[in-house]
Amino acid sequence: MKLKGKVAIVTGGGSGIGRAIALAFASEGATAVVVARNMARLKDVAGEIASRGGKAAAIAADIADEVKVKEMVSRTLGEFGRIDILVNNAGIPGPTANLSDMELDKWNEVLSINLTGAMLCSREVLAGMIPRKSSSIINIGSVGGMSGFPMRGPYCVSKMGIIALTETMAIEVGDFNIRVNCISPAAVRGDRVLAAARAKGKALGIDYERVLERLTKDYSLKRLIEPSEIASAAVFLASDDASAITGHNLVVSCGLHISHY
Ligand SMILES: NC(=O)c1ccc[n+]([C@@H]2O[C@H](COP(=O)([O-])OP(=O)(O)OC[C@H]3O[C@@H](n4cnc5c(N)ncnc54)[C@H](OP(=O)(O)O)[C@@H]3O)[C@@H](O)[C@H]2O)c1
Repeated sequence: MKLKGKVAIVTGGGSGIGRAIALAFASEGATAVVVARNMARLKDVAGEIASRGGKAAAIAADIADEVKVKEMVSRTLGEFGRIDILVNNAGIPGPTANLSDMELDKWNEVLSINLTGAMLCSREVLAGMIPRKSSSIINIGSVGGMSGFPMRGPYCVSKMGIIALTETMAIEVGDFNIRVNCISPAAVRGDRVLAAARAKGKALGIDYERVLERLTKDYSLKRLIEPSEIASAAVFLASDDASAITGHNLVVSCGLHISHY
């Protein structure tokens, strides 16, 4: 087991990629503390982990709310005594609109969850991690944070910001043997991508699978990424296998990021 005895917080752990990461961490021996706003989904994930013989806890918190983040971290420390791993995975896609039409509320909502939320969770866990001199923070970015994307301004800016946050924190906390890395996925199979494909298929009058084919035609591997493949990358970065890796952006994109060559 690669993460035996570790305590890991996974934000957005109630669904999609976060759920897959929490399940993988628990199967590697970590206690997975899943955090999001919807308690029912968190309880399902914690229950699933427990039914497989793993250890988990569910804590409802809005990561954009500084007070709730402090409470969430202090509850985790109270219950488990330490935090070894933080995965800043919670995020929202935000609006699809040109910046010339951007509503400020929508812009602020994306930045406050996707970027400020990750900073707040990191800041709060670092206080306990620094004296222990052995921890790992993993931020979930996106290929959408590696170049500009029309009509996806706030999301794209938030995910580019996640890379800057990763690099800055990695430099600041390296002295304390805390590693900070980022995983940048392309489209991952799950409710978010399938709903978008169905909506687009309906609008174009074509099957959603055809939409997915078009979506992945520039992916070298010609397919979506599975949530378990992001989870494997997270296990690697959280484990001692990655003990010399920090400040890195691990692109998990089935080859989309090299498609223009
Ligand atoms: N799916 C993809 O193709 C893809 C590609 C690249 C990057 N990503 C990134 O991967 C991450 C996970 O995406 P996903 O597809 O798994 O999405 P998802 O299924 O929608 O999961 C997002 C999670 O974040 C939580 N969340 C949202 N706002 C929150 C808040 N204010 N406080 C606490 N939790 C909050 C949600 O739970 P509640 O609503 O209950 O709070 C949910 O559990 C995101 O950062 C996303 O940008 C996804």
